[in-house]
Amino acid sequence: MDAIDSTFVSSVGKYVDRFEEMIRDYTGAKYAIATVNSTAALHMSLLLAGVKRDKLVVTQSLSFIATCNAISYIGAEPLFVDVDMDTLGLSVDKLATFLKNKTEIKEGYCYHKQTWRKISACVPMYTFGHPVELDKIVDLCNQYQILLVEDAAESIGSTYKGKHTGTYGLFGAFSFNGNKTITCGGGVIIINDEKLGKLAKHLTTQAKVPHKWEFVHDHIGYNYHLPNLNAALACAQMEMLDEFISKKRELASAYQQFFLDKPEFHFYIEPKKVDQIIGLMLY
Ligand SMILES: Cc1ncc(COP(=O)(O)O)c(C=O)c1O
Repeated sequence: MDAIDSTFVSSVGKYVDRFEEMIRDYTGAKYAIATVNSTAALHMSLLLAGVKRDKLVVTQSLSFIATCNAISYIGAEPLFVDVDMDTLGLSVDKLATFLKNKTEIKEGYCYHKQTWRKISACVPMYTFGHPVELDKIVDLCNQYQILLVEDAAESIGSTYKGKHTGTYGLFGAFSFNGNKTITCGGGVIIINDEKLGKLAKHLTTQAKVPHKWEFVHDHIGYNYHLPNLNAALACAQMEMLDEFISKKRELASAYQQFFLDKPEFHFYIEPKKVDQIIGLMLY
């Protein structure tokens, strides 16, 4: 109501800033840039990671279409590696085997031997909020000179070894679509690098050079910023995030009980190995 009364419902307003601050505090990231959705957040992250037309991006074969759409917007192509059954996310073993057998490092860049195309980035995704073995994925990416961009769309509230998902890579993208844990509509990019953080804010807001009356745009910009009205909803929901997560855990356990006597179904439960928090998703 405050956002509506203020008349700042769209492009600018205090709730966008407040939401970005809440995301920074919650995830521990240095920069948070609220976006119109997570597909846009992923697109911007890949652009800023330097992914270019005709390059390759390693990602997992199980994901929502937006992961590949964001790669395709640039004219790059996804290369699929399988997931593990216990996390439903990118398999470290399969990724290691793929990189060892199918790629070669030349002059500091990783090339796919079959096509001699450069592999620019790796995009794991956290199915239903469950993190993959991120420390090992980070090691592999460093070893093969590949930038890590996390499709953390489903994982607000999930941590791995004490760190929030999205903070392991150069960029992390979260979604607040209606089927997520926070449902205000929109997304966010988190970044730890100051230069990239400022550039992401600039490019997602039409790349306008700040000036009282002149309209000077110094890059090709994108109209990707989150409206203030959505940000107001986001702030209110962020205050309830822990409650949402515990309710989703209760729901997951109710479903688990329901499927106990139905051996024809394999009910997927939250892996106990690490300290992540589940975001049960309902489609
Ligand atoms: C894994 C994954 N990536 C990306 C997206 C895209 O998010 P959005 O709908 O906010 O663009 C979603 C959800 O919709 C998702 O589940």
